[in-house]
Amino acid sequence: MKNLYVISGVTGMTGSELSQQFVAQGHTVIGFDNFFASSIDTVKAIVNNPSFIFYNYDINNLVQMDEVCEKVRSMQSEYHRLVFINCAAVVHTKHFYEVESTFQTNVLAMKDFLERAIALKADTFINCSTSEVYSMQSWNENGGVKESDYLAMSTAEHSQRTSYACGKLMTEFFMKDAVDKKHIKGCSIRFANVYSKHERFAEHIIPHIIDNLLASHVVTLLENSKVNKRTFLHNIDSCRAVMALIESENALDGTVYNVATEEEVTIIELVKKIANKMGIVDVEIKFEGFRKSDPERRLLNTDKIRNRTNWKPIISLDEGLTMCVNSIEK
Ligand SMILES: NC(=O)c1ccc[n+]([C@@H]2O[C@H](COP(=O)([O-])OP(=O)(O)OC[C@H]3O[C@@H](n4cnc5c(N)ncnc54)[C@H](O)[C@@H]3O)[C@@H](O)[C@H]2O)c1
Repeated sequence: MKNLYVISGVTGMTGSELSQQFVAQGHTVIGFDNFFASSIDTVKAIVNNPSFIFYNYDINNLVQMDEVCEKVRSMQSEYHRLVFINCAAVVHTKHFYEVESTFQTNVLAMKDFLERAIALKADTFINCSTSEVYSMQSWNENGGVKESDYLAMSTAEHSQRTSYACGKLMTEFFMKDAVDKKHIKGCSIRFANVYSKHERFAEHIIPHIIDNLLASHVVTLLENSKVNKRTFLHNIDSCRAVMALIESENALDGTVYNVATEEEVTIIELVKKIANKMGIVDVEIKFEGFRKSDPERRLLNTDKIRNRTNWKPIISLDEGLTMCVNSIEK
């Protein structure tokens, strides 16, 4: 049976992979993106497919959103399930500090998108939240943080960075409230450090390292990178988590799910791995600048999603980095 998926931020890392998977499975996707942090290239394989209906639209533009909803209304009777997936967000680290745009796009527009899904009697809403909500307590003595752990935010005086986390946390409450009131099924997902071979905006660490290495053999990192460790989630796995949750009726209970790998790497090791894959042996690392409120580790416990669905990551960091390096245009 065919489903109709409505995806915001559809040319982003998770949205684009989801669209390709859904179209390949015979479903239809109505998606939009304003290319804030992506381009049409990520969906070039399906952009002319009649099962992929794309709009170059902004989630904050109510007239454009009315048009998207009108399209959904005109088509929805032909489909088994109507599912909304909210991927659109102001994501990159430099924007974490921009309170107004994170509030507008990440909170107000998410709420509007959820209300539109409910008005259209959509079956399910998937809310992409973030592991940033764990703020400075992103790991503990047992290893990974759980969804049920208490949150301890960095203070507003310490750094504006937490505005992104607070905004996303607010969306988790909207999601929970809508499900508790039985308006819709759904859940929130706390992703940690999604990356993909399509990323060409050097705001995230992997494309930043690749861009530095393409320009010279010197990589400039923040002082934080002398100690920081991270896990990285390939967009094939972020997409598979969304799909697994949609297919698990009892997981759509309005709660949150951590989605991450357990493969921790120091940022310095990450530079060496990427350099090695690019055939560079004489890499030099320079440290410049310091980012406040940046946790040394971010390690998520993913037992909840693994117990409630059959999801587990399938792309190792080594394979994922090879994909990134192989996609560099010669
Ligand atoms: N990338 C990560 O590391 C990460 C980590 C945790 C959570 N998330 C969340 O997962 C979701 C998916 O992110 P992603 O990893 O695919 O990142 P991404 O940046 O690749 O995708 C987000 C997409 O939203 C689009 N967008 C931004 N503002 C928009 C607007 N006003 N109107 C329409 N489109 C807009 C961007 O152009 C981009 O294509 C986001 O909600 C993000 O907050 C991502």
